[in-house]
Amino acid sequence: MNAADMSDPVGRVIEWIAAARERGERDAQAATLATVDPASARPSVRTVYVQTDADTLVFFVNANTGKGQHLRWHPHAALCFFWRELQQQINIEGVAEVLDNADADRLWAQRQRDSQLSARSSAQEAIFGDIEAFRQRREREHDAYSFEQVPRPEHWIGYRLLPTRIEFWAAGWHRLRPRELFERDPDGGWQEADQEP
Ligand SMILES: Cc1cc2nc3c(=O)[nH]c(=O)nc-3n(C[C@H](O)[C@H](O)[C@H](O)COP(=O)(O)O)c2cc1C
Repeated sequence: MNAADMSDPVGRVIEWIAAARERGERDAQAATLATVDPASARPSVRTVYVQTDADTLVFFVNANTGKGQHLRWHPHAALCFFWRELQQQINIEGVAEVLDNADADRLWAQRQRDSQLSARSSAQEAIFGDIEAFRQRREREHDAYSFEQVPRPEHWIGYRLLPTRIEFWAAGWHRLRPRELFERDPDGGWQEADQEP
């Protein structure tokens, strides 16, 4: 990592995502999202697609799902990207901030139409619904918006992760430096933290 990257680990995350995409990594923008259920204090994980917006990381969730409920009451979250072919990983911890409607609509518009239709079709009820009912809803959504832009459903909420800790890991580094860990200062800058191999 060069000196410029050390002062901007978020920029480095965005570069790694773009590089993974360019090098043909399947689902380069998919990451594991960890949230905490504030009622039980238990963690839970699942995959989400992460979009980059200028120099920030954004993801969308159905507000009715577990993660939607967790983030509503407890905004601390973590993302883990793993790119199998590149053998690289990034772990990010931070606080998830709700996007305002203008930003959410703008980023929603960048999602693939297929993913928009699926999100609309599953937005109305819990995800463990009837698959046939989901298919029918999706069909109806497809017909309703065949010539128009697909609108963002009310329950599809965007979050921007404000990172407090970022750790980079790449295969081959382990003999020299196992990981590179950055922690956010109270003044908004970044410090590289010392760590044991
Ligand atoms: C590749 C992939 C991408 C996904 N992207 C999203 C996403 O962007 N937002 C989302 O809410 N769910 C997404 N999902 C579904 C979630 O992983 C999850 O199964 C579902 O939202 C319910 O999660 P929860 O009950 O833990 O909240 C994706 C799943 C996969 C496999």
